[in-house]
Amino acid sequence: MIITRAQLNGFRSYEACEIAPCEGVNVLLGDNGQGKTNVLEALYLCCTGRSHRTRQDRDLIRWGADFARVEVDARRRDGSHRVEIVLPALGRRRLKIAGQEVSRSGELMGHVTGVLFSPEDLRTVKDGPAERRRFVDMALSQIKPAYYYALQRYNRALKQRGEALRAAAASPSMLATLDAWDEQLAAAGAELMAHRRAYVAQLSKTAAETHRDISDGREALEIRYLPCVSMGDDARSILDALFAAREDDVRRGVTSAGPHRDDVQILVEGRDVRAFGSQGQQRTAALAMRLSELEVMRDEIGEWPMLMLDDVMSELDPGRRRQLVGRLAGIQTFITCTDEDDLAGAEPGRAWRVENGALREL
Ligand SMILES: Nc1ncnc2c1ncn2[C@@H]1O[C@H](COP(=O)(O)OP(=O)(O)O)[C@@H](O)[C@H]1O
Ligand SMILES: [Mg+2]
Repeated sequence: MIITRAQLNGFRSYEACEIAPCEGVNVLLGDNGQGKTNVLEALYLCCTGRSHRTRQDRDLIRWGADFARVEVDARRRDGSHRVEIVLPALGRRRLKIAGQEVSRSGELMGHVTGVLFSPEDLRTVKDGPAERRRFVDMALSQIKPAYYYALQRYNRALKQRGEALRAAAASPSMLATLDAWDEQLAAAGAELMAHRRAYVAQLSKTAAETHRDISDGREALEIRYLPCVSMGDDARSILDALFAAREDDVRRGVTSAGPHRDDVQILVEGRDVRAFGSQGQQRTAALAMRLSELEVMRDEIGEWPMLMLDDVMSELDPGRRRQLVGRLAGIQTFITCTDEDDLAGAEPGRAWRVENGALREL
């Protein structure tokens, strides 16, 4: 998949800008705070419907503007795809696919596909389970719309069950209302767990190979799915777990069991890299995970998604940088950096200077 054109209006620091990227390496060069990441953020938004930096649409709207708009044209093997997202300062966001307004947010998935690697990815390895769930959720949503819809159903039911729990705490006669939410959570939850288990297995297999390459064959990486409900992935097991936790849940006002509490464990040489890994090992594991996400996505969709590398070159040692650059053949790539030397031999097909929220092609 290749992005052939991207247009930003009122997005972050950009009043208006348009780029026509090349099929190979595209470089955004500029000092800090000039607007490089903002461009990648706009592209990522068109892949996932979300920013990687904020959950609030209003953060993406240029200060003082009425709306932000991003339009991306992509070319895939099956033809051309156009995605347009409008985020108004007031009211709901609007989504157009091929010029037609669509009402379900999941319809965005699978038109523009991409993987973003940024310095914050270290958090996937270092932080709590929520970051790793987000990794899996974003990756799976892009390749499996069914997963995205199951996730939506699950999150809605989870919210409703939370309200029902708090209502039941106030008046025990409300306890019966929990049954309906438990059923819905169990059904959607079982779908999520099945997809997650299969995806993590695929990711782990690919990541082991990738990691062996980028750590010069010295270390073994393994990624394991750690489901919160360990009796089984079927709806029955989740339902049982929800029921067993019901009394506690009413007291605490939150749902304690289910895939919203899942984790993914990342092991280097059999040890949890989160607790025992050096900074260097964690960084290499994070890179291996993103590169594997890219490969699994290619296997699933049958062509390479695009790759965005945000300020990551300067954080890698020369060996890892060369490894990374060596893998870019045939993949449309967007690289941001402050210094041309960071490119480590990657041949830019197109390059822009980013200054003060404006792009100038070099
Ligand atoms: N909603 C917004 N409206 C206008 N400017 C914004 C908005 N959000 C961020 N900015 C500006 O964008 C710049 C940061 O852009 P960013 O792409 O993160 O920089 P970098 O080149 O370091 O990646 C800052 O100057 C910030 O003030
Ligand atoms: Mg940046």
